[in-house]
Amino acid sequence: MTIASLSTYVPPRVLTNADLEKLVDTSNEWILQRTGIHERHIVDPGVTTSDLAKEAATEAISRAGLTPDDIGLIVVGTVTPDMLFPSTACLLQNKIGASRAWGFDLSAACSAFTYSLTTATQIVAAGGTDHALVVGADVMSSIIDYRDRTTCVLFGDGAGAVVVSAADSQSANVILDFEHEIDGSGSHALFMPAGGSARPASHETVDQRMHYVKQDGGTVFKFAVRKTEEVARRLLERNGLTPESLDLFVSHQANRRIIMSATEKLGVPQEKVIINIERFGNTTAATIPLALNDAMLSGRLKKGNLVLLASVGAGFTVGAVLLRWGI
Ligand code: UT7
Repeated sequence: MTIASLSTYVPPRVLTNADLEKLVDTSNEWILQRTGIHERHIVDPGVTTSDLAKEAATEAISRAGLTPDDIGLIVVGTVTPDMLFPSTACLLQNKIGASRAWGFDLSAACSAFTYSLTTATQIVAAGGTDHALVVGADVMSSIIDYRDRTTCVLFGDGAGAVVVSAADSQSANVILDFEHEIDGSGSHALFMPAGGSARPASHETVDQRMHYVKQDGGTVFKFAVRKTEEVARRLLERNGLTPESLDLFVSHQANRRIIMSATEKLGVPQEKVIINIERFGNTTAATIPLALNDAMLSGRLKKGNLVLLASVGAGFTVGAVLLRWGI
């Protein structure tokens, strides 16, 4: 299997740290120092996750030299579907005109891209289809409480898409290995309390602001540092590789300090670590494709490079994918 193309999209509107200073009791210095974030993009009212996904997906299909009719499977990783049902994959399929595709949404929060990539890769490898569209897209601004300074400074909106294609020759086999975990004991460290079957929407849930992200930041921070390092180390060791042998380490972008700590513990040289959180914040399912895209544009990611993707997210969900970059 090979990643045949990559494309990303963020909405044009920028929300800076200075803008947030006007909304909550925070400062540019605190946000930059504690998270590394300078600005993030957020949608205008009415723009949905499938709208962002469409922009990224259409371009990814075209860059792969394909048409929407060539796509046999669509996996949309998201924690902000346009609605609970139908799936955003269905809405996207209709918007891009992928008339021969089936597909589904995958809920793994910040690990949605690594999970979706692994899932689609396995289906392509099993002969289920020749071309799968993998999208990570989130409109986090739709579930963020812009009165809560502990969460509203962290998140942004965005989308990224790749086409995973079956390749003829073994040499083009770029998805080398993967490793995933879930740990539901951490479910209350990062969650949205209402809107599901546990607490259906009511006047009370709205009054109590329960349709927004709630986070115990410290618990998530420690888990993310420990697990990013652990899952990456396990995957490297299993493949007889050292951290130094990697060309690029692409972590989910939740906090600059999480990425720095985890990669220092792992022993990846900092020049091989991509961090672009300063421009986008945490876009949940879209951070890894956005980071890959920046790495490509800046010449730090080239065809044949050995790349490790790693993510930790709400659930908890943990993921890592080892690949040889094929574009
Ligand atoms: O994608 C996966 C999901 N999310 C993550 O991975 C995020 C994981 N967690 C984090 O990134 C960090 O825990 C945060 C950035 C959320 C918080 O950073 P921290 O260094 O852990 O700060 P803290 O929560 O320990 O808070 C330190 C202080 C507190 O004040 P007191 O109690 O010491 O007086 C907070 O109230 O900073 C305060 N604080 C703020 N101050 C200014 C919290 N948020 C802000 C803010 N501006 N936006």
